[in-house]
Amino acid sequence: MRRTLSGGSTLAAAPLINLVVMRHSLQIRAGRASDASRLGVLAIQVWLHTYATDGITDEIAQYVRSELTVEKFSASLGDPDTCLLVAECGESLVGFAAVKFGASCPSDARAQVELQTLYVQEHFIGQGIGRSLLQAAEAGARSRSGSSLWLTVNAQNARAIAFYVRQGYSKIGTTYFLLGEARHENHVLVGVIPPKSKRF
Ligand SMILES: CC(C)(COP(=O)(O)OP(=O)(O)OC[C@H]1O[C@@H](n2cnc3c(N)ncnc32)[C@H](O)[C@@H]1OP(=O)(O)O)[C@@H](O)C(=O)NCCC(=O)NCCS
Repeated sequence: MRRTLSGGSTLAAAPLINLVVMRHSLQIRAGRASDASRLGVLAIQVWLHTYATDGITDEIAQYVRSELTVEKFSASLGDPDTCLLVAECGESLVGFAAVKFGASCPSDARAQVELQTLYVQEHFIGQGIGRSLLQAAEAGARSRSGSSLWLTVNAQNARAIAFYVRQGYSKIGTTYFLLGEARHENHVLVGVIPPKSKRF
């Protein structure tokens, strides 16, 4: 994989990062309104692959059909406090990150910039795309708020936890994701302190 950092220090600048993955050129850029449909489908694919490991329950079907919709992605793309970053390979989206500004962390209210989502399509994992999206999200948080990111990750999601630990994230608390009647334990993680900035 070759990588060049190009340009902007804010999430609005595009492209943020150019990558070459398996001889395909790949771009990390700010999301656009026209990405909403592909984002919705990619989110469903990654979510189901990651969490619906025992089949599809009613709760899972309801959650996916109500939360991972094109309408919700369109709203996020138009929300000034949400920054969506996409990883695009040719005409295909292969990953994305969503950052929410002004989102209070349940473990420390001083933390106000949440990495809400970081998804890479299974066929593209392990090639540096997750790290590149995370670095672009961190750069955006640093540039707009001078702060690091916080996030929640399912306690059973060992691969993602290992990824975040590798990127310097540490656990600061526990929270629960409700799906129907079931409570799923999540770790609350926080990123490294940006140089010359505040942690949160
Ligand atoms: C977690 C996820 C975003 C990681 O993305 P990725 O593109 O596979 O990760 P990368 O290839 O960029 O890996 C970056 C680094 O993390 C390390 N890493 C990745 N997966 C790892 C694992 N399972 N164990 C240990 N280290 C891991 C890599 O070795 C690499 O290390 P390096 O920086 O020294 O080279 C991706 O696996 C994913 O989308 N999973 C499904 C959705 C999900 O669980 N999202 C997180 C929910 S909070």
